[in-house]
Amino acid sequence: MTDSDDRSWPRAADRLGRDAAAGGDPTRWVEELWSSAERDEIETPWDRSDPFPDVARRITELGPGVGGRAVVVGAALGADAEAIARAGWDTVAFDVSPAAVRLARQRYPDSDVDYRIGDLLDLPEDLVGAFDLVVEVFTVQSMPPTVRDRAIEGIRGLIAADGSAIVVQYVRGDAGADDGPPWMLDRTEMEMFGGDGIDIDLEVRPSPRADQQIWVATLRRT
Ligand SMILES: C[S@@+](CC[C@H](N)C(=O)[O-])C[C@H]1O[C@@H](n2cnc3c(N)ncnc32)[C@H](O)[C@@H]1O
Repeated sequence: MTDSDDRSWPRAADRLGRDAAAGGDPTRWVEELWSSAERDEIETPWDRSDPFPDVARRITELGPGVGGRAVVVGAALGADAEAIARAGWDTVAFDVSPAAVRLARQRYPDSDVDYRIGDLLDLPEDLVGAFDLVVEVFTVQSMPPTVRDRAIEGIRGLIAADGSAIVVQYVRGDAGADDGPPWMLDRTEMEMFGGDGIDIDLEVRPSPRADQQIWVATLRRT
């Protein structure tokens, strides 16, 4: 193995994710990964500074967010949160990893975004039902399927009356179970974001990775 292989974050993610899932803690691995990046032992994971294309499209569709509250779940380094705040939304961005939150704050020291440590599986009460716009990209699939119901319920629970959400995940193919991370989602799992007072519009779209497709779900609380 070369030095550059040692710094590969996908390799570290594979190892930590599988160990953590086997150990019964669904989110410990992401903090281990982000801490390792913070210590400069590996490349920075999920490092982008532009908003995810489907999120950018949704922000444009919705128009200026002035007066609205938005939340980004699993916010990582803050690219989506910053774009949403620039569009005028009062924006909270949370991540279960304290190291990720520190890195986002360092990257955007003058930000209007309220960066917080928070766990989608154990939401603080002040976030529940509080958001006109909920944005979630690749966070549910970063947790093993044992907590999928709770993760989906968490996303649904953030949406205020008359609010909406955009949820993006990789499409799980026909090959059967994958041992993740990521733990991709099939259509039945994506449909669980809707129902019981939430309308869902589900699309399959090309992904930034040529060999994959993504689910883009738009949710609206009625
Ligand atoms: C696959 S990364 C995606 C990051 C970012 N949303 C993006 O699209 O680049 C998943 C992110 O969700 C965070 N995360 C994982 N489980 C979480 C949870 N239960 N609550 C909040 N954040 C979580 C991870 O720390 C990581 O930053």
